[in-house]
Amino acid sequence: MTARIIDGAALARTIRTDVARRAEALTAQGVKPGLAVILVGDSPASQVYVRNKVNACEQAGMHSVLEKYEAGMSEAELLARIDALNHDPDIHGILVQLPLPAHIDPHRVIEAIAAAKDVDGFHISNAGLLMTGQPLFRPCTPYGVMKMLEHEGAELRGAEAVVVGASNIVGKPMALLLQAAGATVTICNSKTRDLATHTRRADILVVATGRPRMITGAQIKPSAIVIDVGINRLDDGKLCGDVDFDSAREVAGAITPVPGGVGPMTIAMLLVNTIEAAERCLA
Ligand code: GUN
Repeated sequence: MTARIIDGAALARTIRTDVARRAEALTAQGVKPGLAVILVGDSPASQVYVRNKVNACEQAGMHSVLEKYEAGMSEAELLARIDALNHDPDIHGILVQLPLPAHIDPHRVIEAIAAAKDVDGFHISNAGLLMTGQPLFRPCTPYGVMKMLEHEGAELRGAEAVVVGASNIVGKPMALLLQAAGATVTICNSKTRDLATHTRRADILVVATGRPRMITGAQIKPSAIVIDVGINRLDDGKLCGDVDFDSAREVAGAITPVPGGVGPMTIAMLLVNTIEAAERCLA
């Protein structure tokens, strides 16, 4: 059996078209949705990510600002910029690209963003709202994964879902969203003993470890839906996921490719969160 390929790029295009329509309607009512993206330092990967986010905003007819700072910027300077954006009426969403340089405390920075503009959904109050079943903003990557599962028609109620990776950005919120949808969720991490016994039980397997091709076909249940959140650059310059695509596709029922799977959905859901933040200004 060869798995169906889940086309995240195509679904993301559909979502972005809908966001553009909503942005046009809001603009006609006098509110142009605006996103501010802050990048500290010159990581080449982060530069590409923020550029893609800002370009996606522009294409959807939204206002966007990209603020780039030297890696030596102080935490106090960054907090002052966030405070100014919190009070800027043209900005509805604020995103500080992670990771930050080591001398800046990411928790202090995230907590400084107004919760109502925290379109990443990382603020402690947004994490709490998600955990208690009343989300304001869902973190973009897990939100995108849920949209892909919905589009696939995946039955989540009663399903065994396994999430490999327990980060605040992906693994933990992913588990909460799957659980809220009725799945029985197991969260694994890099130290999980006999990982394959868990992954082989998964009807839905989400992998976000940052380790190239660590999950192979032998660790996947036949017909499972496999979502690969990883994006790793190999020595030959090619991109690959955290799942070994070639062996996994022979076992899985459906699988996301890298690139063209989860990545485009993360950006699409950032736009959704930003448009919702702007729409709340009119409500
Ligand atoms: N770094 C990697 N993924 C993300 C994300 O979704 N948001 C932010 N702000 N930084 C990231």
